[in-house]
Amino acid sequence: MTSSQLRSGPIAPGIAFITGGARGLGNAIAVSFAREGATGIALVDVLDAAAFEEGKAAVEACGTGVRVITIHCDVTKESEVEAAIAQTVKEFGRIDYAANFAGVAGPLTAVVDTDTAAWKRVIEVNAVGVWLCMKHEMKQMMKQDSLAVEKGRVDQRGSIVNCASVNSIQSGAGSSGYTAAKHAVLGMTKAGALEARSQGVRINCVSPGFLRTKLLEEEMTKVAKGTMLGGAEDGTAAWGKFEARQGREASFDEVGDVVVLLSTPRMSLVCGHNLVIDGGFTVNEMDS
Ligand SMILES: NC(=O)c1ccc[n+]([C@@H]2O[C@H](COP(=O)([O-])OP(=O)(O)OC[C@H]3O[C@@H](n4cnc5c(N)ncnc54)[C@H](O)[C@@H]3O)[C@@H](O)[C@H]2O)c1
Repeated sequence: MTSSQLRSGPIAPGIAFITGGARGLGNAIAVSFAREGATGIALVDVLDAAAFEEGKAAVEACGTGVRVITIHCDVTKESEVEAAIAQTVKEFGRIDYAANFAGVAGPLTAVVDTDTAAWKRVIEVNAVGVWLCMKHEMKQMMKQDSLAVEKGRVDQRGSIVNCASVNSIQSGAGSSGYTAAKHAVLGMTKAGALEARSQGVRINCVSPGFLRTKLLEEEMTKVAKGTMLGGAEDGTAAWGKFEARQGREASFDEVGDVVVLLSTPRMSLVCGHNLVIDGGFTVNEMDS
């Protein structure tokens, strides 16, 4: 393929593997991949058949003819992660792009009030789960050929984007589990990226700001006064405050598009980084 054909063609041809893909930000990433030319997408999640159907329909509605498969997999279980990757490779032959977006908010409570098992579960899903996926995605990508890249550019056998959060670089009272896990995602992204770059695999993470997904809806309605949400009557009362800090309400596709752009071989020198997608949330020192 010539350089001009690559410039004028789809920016993300190939196969995407997306955990947390049935809904929320993971599903928005799948939609963005479909719009930008992916031909096969695996939606990996723990939700029920109805949620998978809805998530699959949203991607297929792009009308690009993308083939979507759904895989029930708990990312905290290594054997299930391995099986999900094996199934995707069996269906599509390879995995060009992985987005590790399965996650939970966990209890948003003060350290002294937090049940230890519940805290460990947040680490298990948001940190260990991302690490397990990254591990087995790396193994798969390192043994496959490169995507077509422009003349003079380095090969890309695969790209992995891990989901961190603005909590990877800052924190808030009542978020010790979530913050610890997201700091861990940033750390494992840096180490993994340095191990994988010589083999044509790029690894980065992204840190979304504040998006009204079910993850937050479910936990923020339960939070107590005086925790991360700064004394609000309940968590949802603080949504406006977070959005003010961010500048506005954000839409899920704004995260989806960034993940796709970061995954393309044109981002060849971006490796081991944390791309913050927050409308200025974390640089806003004046309105906090
Ligand atoms: N919504 C935000 O404002 C925000 C901000 C920063 C980061 N994030 C991160 O974005 C990612 C996606 O979250 P979201 O906001 O779209 O919420 P969401 O709840 O809609 O999506 C999370 C998905 O992960 C799945 N999941 C949970 N545990 C799993 C497991 N053990 N194995 C497989 N799948 C599992 C859920 O079923 C769900 O589909 C999470 O990592 C979250 O921490 C969200």
